[in-house]
Amino acid sequence: MLKGKNIVVGVAGGISAYKVVDVVSRLKKQGANIYVIMTKAATNFVTPLTFREISGHPVVVDMWAEATNWNVEHIALASRADLFLLAPATGNIIGKIANGIADDMLSTTVMATTAPILMVPAMNTNMYLNTIVQQNISKLTQLDYYFMDPDCGKLACGTEGVGRLPEPEAIVEKVIEILKTNHDFTGKKILITAGGTQEAIDPVRYIGNRSSGKMGYALAEVAAHRGAKVTLISGPTHLVSPPGVTIEFVQSASQMQDAVLAHFAESDIVIKAAAVADYRPQSMSEHKIKKTGETLHLILEKNPDILLQLGHLKKHQILVGFAAETQDLLVHAQDKLTRKNLDMIVANDVTIPGAGFNTDTNIAKLLYRDGRIEELPQMSKKRLAEVILDKIHIECRK
Ligand code: C5P
Repeated sequence: MLKGKNIVVGVAGGISAYKVVDVVSRLKKQGANIYVIMTKAATNFVTPLTFREISGHPVVVDMWAEATNWNVEHIALASRADLFLLAPATGNIIGKIANGIADDMLSTTVMATTAPILMVPAMNTNMYLNTIVQQNISKLTQLDYYFMDPDCGKLACGTEGVGRLPEPEAIVEKVIEILKTNHDFTGKKILITAGGTQEAIDPVRYIGNRSSGKMGYALAEVAAHRGAKVTLISGPTHLVSPPGVTIEFVQSASQMQDAVLAHFAESDIVIKAAAVADYRPQSMSEHKIKKTGETLHLILEKNPDILLQLGHLKKHQILVGFAAETQDLLVHAQDKLTRKNLDMIVANDVTIPGAGFNTDTNIAKLLYRDGRIEELPQMSKKRLAEVILDKIHIECRK
């Protein structure tokens, strides 16, 4: 399962460090190359020798030790690792990483890595539930660090509660889940819209909105990474085009309509993340409107609702819409889901900090045709894109 994968295992100073010996052994049996880095405190619970024998590689603890081949190798691994597993992740190491402290080999290597990082916290219940620890975990989660929830049960300190290291088997399963190269959208054509539209008033002015396009671009990037053939219809944005995606730029809602309709029939999945203007000036002035009167009247006429049209045209397509609201979120989202004949709608209240336009995170609720509602915590738009595609994948199989 993990043949040829390079996994760096960071062991911090908690009593459950002994269980991580079993984790390393299991990962190795799956074919992974394991390189262990321990904190000094961790060596009080398990010796580096144990990890060296189980992993088959020297173990690094001290940053100031004589430079050796293997300790240079470990640093090189920070950039070559496929995954960084931190177990047990103590309150201390979580706090250091969340606050950019790199004062030993483990925290320094974590800072240097670009690999996905899986943290498996294990500590006394009160420590785990401590607000600062929870804030650190939530900060790191938003920065795309993976976390496993600790198990409940009897703890080494004699108390009962949450804080136990999950079973080695479960940790290995999570590692496999993160590392599996997910090409689950291979062969699927996905049409995604992103950004806000601009409705021209005259040659220099337009009516626009605050959409940044970040959510739609994240969806396009993740879908392409997962093997889909992605066409992205984008309003004007400042974002870099995602790799491997065919992108068409439009300005107005009616241009977006034309582009979307041109690709709809051939698409398997359509995700409409764009903030399309509901109204446009009835006519565009040929020349720049001069500052003559005290007031200026614009007559606006309704734009086509592209998604509503797609809902009518839909045959085999999975249709996903977005509902950005400032009040009565669920009522409006539910109404759009039904009226526009969607399979799923992603609803977010844009007045909540961390959930609106132009942020890097979102707080969404997913509503389905059968009435199910899933509430998701605050997460990066990239992670949300992963979750939305996971859910669409399940819908595709129904
Ligand atoms: O009705 P409302 O604009 O709030 O619905 C939002 C959803 O409908 C989004 O998925 C958006 O991309 C889509 N939409 C559209 N055409 C419009 C307005 C919205 O496709 N004219």
